[in-house]
Order: sequence, then C-alpha cells, then structure tokens
Amino acid sequence: MEASASAKVILFGEHAVVYGQPAIAVPVTSLRARVTAEAAPSDAGLTILSPATRHRFTVHLTEDDEENALSLAAQLTLRNFGITTPPDLTLTLVSDIPIGRGLGSGAAVSTALVRALCAALEKTLSLEELNAIIYEVEKKHHGTPSGIDNTVIVYEQPIYFVRGQPLENIRIALPFTLLVADTGYGTPTHIPVGDVRRLYEAKPERITPILERIGAISRAACQAIETGEYFRLGALMNENHELLQKLTVSSVELDVLCEAALAAGAQGAKMSGGGRGGIMLALVTDATAPRVMSALESAGAVRVVKTRVRLPENSVG
Ligand code: PMV
Repeated sequence: MEASASAKVILFGEHAVVYGQPAIAVPVTSLRARVTAEAAPSDAGLTILSPATRHRFTVHLTEDDEENALSLAAQLTLRNFGITTPPDLTLTLVSDIPIGRGLGSGAAVSTALVRALCAALEKTLSLEELNAIIYEVEKKHHGTPSGIDNTVIVYEQPIYFVRGQPLENIRIALPFTLLVADTGYGTPTHIPVGDVRRLYEAKPERITPILERIGAISRAACQAIETGEYFRLGALMNENHELLQKLTVSSVELDVLCEAALAAGAQGAKMSGGGRGGIMLALVTDATAPRVMSALESAGAVRVVKTRVRLPENSVG
C-alpha cells in the first residue's frame, strides 16, 4: 500500500505571511515523497524506516516523541482514531524532494506517512483533519509556522493563503511554467524567520510597510494569475524579491541566480521560502525555458526542476 504527497513552492508572500499578509503557494507535483505500509509480524509494533537517511525507529504511544516529526505524525494519527496500541506495521519512506530547501520536504513526508498509515488502518481523514495533524507536526519543528506549507501540500493545489483564514484556491486562467533552481545549501527556516522578527521588533516603522507591500503584491499576483497576465506576474516576482532582500533573507547565491534568469529572458525571478539559500523561481515560457535553465546551471544552480502550474481536476474552494 503506497501513499504520496507533493513538494511545494511559495510563489509570493513568504515571511510577510507570518504577519497576516496573504501569500500564494503552488504544489510541485513532479517531486514527491512516498510511503509504503506493509504488515509486520505480530507484536513487532509500528516501525518507520527511511533507507536514504538510514533511520529506523519504533513508534510508542506512551509519550510525545517531540524530537521526531514522523513519530509525532504517527502518534497524532493513531490518537485521532482512539487507537491505544500501535499496529504491527512497517512504514518505509522514499522521497525525491531535497531536504531543507523550502520545497516542503518535511510536510510532504509527514503527509505521505499519515496517508499510508490511514490506508493500512482502513481509516479516512478529511483534508481538514489531515491538515490539522500536519500543522501540529510543523509547529513542533518550526516554532510558529504560518501553516502555508502543510496547507498547499495537503490540498495539493495552488492556494491563496492568509494565516488563520479559510482556504481560498486560485482560478488559473492559463497554465504557466516555473523553473525551480536549488542553490545547493539551505538555512533552517526558523533562523531567517527569527531574524525578520528581530528586525520587526527593533524597527516596526521600517519593516511594516515592507510586509504590507508584499501583501499587496500577493493580492495583485492573484489577480494576474486569474487573468493570465504573466508579464505583470513576472514584474511582481521581481519586486517581491527586492523586498525580501530588504528583509535580509536573500543571499548572494540567490541574487546571482535571479539576475542570471532575468538576463536569459525569464519574465520574473525571486527567491522562494525561508531564504538564505534554498531555492529561487524563474517564470518562463516554452521558448525561454531552455535558455534560462542553462543560464541557471552556469550561474551555480545544483539542480533545476521545471514545473507547470495548473489547477488540478479535483480542486476545492
Ligand atoms: O518552509 P519554507 O522555507 O518554504 O519557508 C516557509 C515560509 C515562511 O513564510 C518563511 C515561514 C512560514 O511559516 O510561513
């Protein structure tokens, strides 16, 4: 029995979303985390295996395993169904989502794991219930996450997200193409998030207008996506990147990749996610994609993934 979950990127509004501004995130369906559930011998208990990271651990229900996101995801799922003895199962995870790059690897692996566990138990969770579990797991590991990562991954559709508000999806007028380029290194999300918090607390009069402008960009971008004005969308990406530079969360490598993408003909470019490394996005057409991709590789990207953003068949909202 196998279950999966996709990667994600934040298209607009990262960091400002923590302060209540809107943000836009889209799934990257070609990169996935997969978990298989297999019956284990009786009394073997619930084992989670990750061959890639050589992790193997057993889930107990006696106490919260705060150190381990996957154990916690399994515990919360079992408790949700009132199960007090872990089932005899082995959950094996395989993921092609790079870890710690703002692609939502953690939320995707947790989501796939909970889905596989539910399938093996022949239980169902609504998307809302699944999202609540994955948010709890994210909280243990990222302090005060806005909830955007778990939401876009659980629903696997483009979302317009405002912290604490009901999910809104985006009607995509015409599918568009993004290149996702990896700088090859990452900084744990809580570090740039903490730095922005310190900046905000030290100089609210300087930081508040930046956060508000990012929110206005997300609103304008939503309109541009819904009307298919991709030239405008590109300009909004560039402006959002400049504002993230002002929040000190970009890096030399991210700036170099953005400049290279624009010079090679991308309609827009920006860093994505927590920043200080991780990934950047370039908005391309079929005509510019090959040139922008090779420019990104020459400028130091360790990997470039092309993804098409469109509405899934079963979109909600
Ligand atoms: O997990 P990442 O690296 O994609 O970044 C999360 C986005 C932030 O806005 C920086 C933090 C948050 O909780 O929304």
